[in-house]
Amino acid sequence: MTDTTAPTPGRPAVSTTIAEIRSIVRDARARGERVALVPTMGALHDGHLSLARTARGLADVVVVSIFVNPLQFGPNEDFDRYPRTLDADLEALGDLADHVFAPTVAEMYPNGPSQTRIVAGEVAGEFEGASRPGHFDGMLTVVNKLLGIVQPDAAMFGQKDAQQVFLVRQMVADLDIPVSIEAVPIVREADGLALSSRNRYLDPDAREAAVTLSRALHDTGAAAGAGVQAALAAGVARVRASAPVKLDYLAIVDPQTFRSVADGYRGAATVLIAARVGTTRLIDNASIIIG
Ligand code: PAF
Repeated sequence: MTDTTAPTPGRPAVSTTIAEIRSIVRDARARGERVALVPTMGALHDGHLSLARTARGLADVVVVSIFVNPLQFGPNEDFDRYPRTLDADLEALGDLADHVFAPTVAEMYPNGPSQTRIVAGEVAGEFEGASRPGHFDGMLTVVNKLLGIVQPDAAMFGQKDAQQVFLVRQMVADLDIPVSIEAVPIVREADGLALSSRNRYLDPDAREAAVTLSRALHDTGAAAGAGVQAALAAGVARVRASAPVKLDYLAIVDPQTFRSVADGYRGAATVLIAARVGTTRLIDNASIIIG
């Protein structure tokens, strides 16, 4: 029995087992080919395609993993309703990926989900981690597994999840994992809304209001010449002006440490925002210069 779905023209081949994808990657390496991994949870949009396109430029073989990882969802989060759209994802990827690795939960966690885990460290307790306890431990655990399974030369992550990128880089450095982590710029709709698989939850009113997040980032950056407090105040004012948007946090961090910057900080920074728009929680971020 084979676990691989042979590629149909214009679509990548699909492997559902670890053994199968490992053997595909092993063969590629034996041919001297470079391998790139694009870890995803599916429901692919243009942001993911941009990750795959970047991977194409860096490697001979592009593997996209599609796995909705239960470990990184809290009990009241959207694991069950998270969109699972494998057929559309394969269509969207077309020639951008050579192989899709789409395992089941049992394939990834054959002994159950509560065995060995990565502990993400202090930065994981802030921002997304404060709102989503355990999220980053679960995310890093699956990323570590995927890196171990595929053993890519490079792995692509979207800059939209800035704290995720920071923590993945930290894990790779701390655990001496031999892979290059590439952060790929955020892809936005014409009005500025950052692409996200969760945007499909937005009803028309929420979709209109959702642009507030990128506008708040813009206003924060525009006021940053007057310092940290003025920048934060400008961003918060933008959110407060939009009734359907409930701010979770707006913060300015030092990109080197991912810690909130002190009042007198000057220089490059990242502004982070998370907010609930209707029933959907969205995040976004932007690079700014303070002072
Ligand atoms: O960013 C995501 O989609 C997920 O957190 C990732 C990196 C695929 C791990 O499940």
